[in-house]
Amino acid sequence: AHPAFSTKSCRYGAEALREAALLIRAGEPVAVPTETVYGLAGDATDSSAVAAIYSAKGRPSFNPLIVHVADRGMAERLADFSPVAKRLADRFWPGPLTLVLPARADSGLSPLVMAGLSTVALRLPAHPAMRALIREAGCPLAAPSANRSGAISPTRAEHVLSSLDGKIRMILDEGPTSEGLESTIAAPENDYIRLLRPGPVTAAMLEEASGLPVIVGGDGKIEAPGQLESHYAPSKPVRLEAMQAERDEYLIGFGLMPCHINLSPEADLAEAAANLFAALHIADASAATRIAVAPVPMEGIGVAINDRLKRAAA
Ligand code: TXA
Ligand code: MG
Repeated sequence: AHPAFSTKSCRYGAEALREAALLIRAGEPVAVPTETVYGLAGDATDSSAVAAIYSAKGRPSFNPLIVHVADRGMAERLADFSPVAKRLADRFWPGPLTLVLPARADSGLSPLVMAGLSTVALRLPAHPAMRALIREAGCPLAAPSANRSGAISPTRAEHVLSSLDGKIRMILDEGPTSEGLESTIAAPENDYIRLLRPGPVTAAMLEEASGLPVIVGGDGKIEAPGQLESHYAPSKPVRLEAMQAERDEYLIGFGLMPCHINLSPEADLAEAAANLFAALHIADASAATRIAVAPVPMEGIGVAINDRLKRAAA
């Protein structure tokens, strides 16, 4: 089918930023980089703008979205910060941590963004492009990853374009993202922290910063797309813990080994995280009919890498 319009990919700069902010104010979602993955951003206070994000992604149901803010003041106008929440924000913001907090009654957020819950997921990103766009648009921005629902997350503008061409007006291109995996999502309670999605801020880092235990898993209140079994999924079957490529397989390696593409020849986990989604995109576009991935150690950000791999293989 012919797209209704073509998608413009613009190098990040003052002029592109102004144009992106105008689109956001007109209710049109715009793809923008963060330090984790590219997000598809829209005005979090405007229900029709939030609905436009869901429709561009082809997300089947309304699930809560992360709301991005430019500074702490903006965050505190949207949600109540307990002492534990404050400590985590002091330590990890700006950065790849999303905090699930009680929304304020006067937040002005669209109820769609919270999918009817009383809590909101807030993130103060470190990436200058996302923060500048929030300031220029003058509103908090809801932003899921900028890809069709269920597909591999985008860490480059080209990934967004190949997934959403004709579905969105504009992509702000500021090169590859540095972290490469979606933010850690945590819900601080009074005497423990619930880890809802593993990410660059590890459970050990949360425990160290808060002095509280971290409990893995949700409370069953939400159906979270990032937590669905099959997510971040390439179109080809994925085999994990592979030591070598079998027939018709494209092997994604880790550490020194023969393979088609290597996440990190030096076995550096941060480097592997930054390269993971790009490697899956390349493997998916290759002539091979299946994808195999070498074992990645379950330590530090390796926990989040394995979480995404398990869902890609599901
Ligand atoms: O790195 C990231 O976090 C990226 C970039 C673009 O910032 N964003 C991202 O957003 O991954 P999104 O909207 O796809 O994340 C949605 C996830 C849901 O799957 C759910 O797990 C969680 O955020 N979430 C949102 N609101 C929640 C709430 N009120 N309670 C619990 N979890 C919530
Ligand atoms: Mg996603």
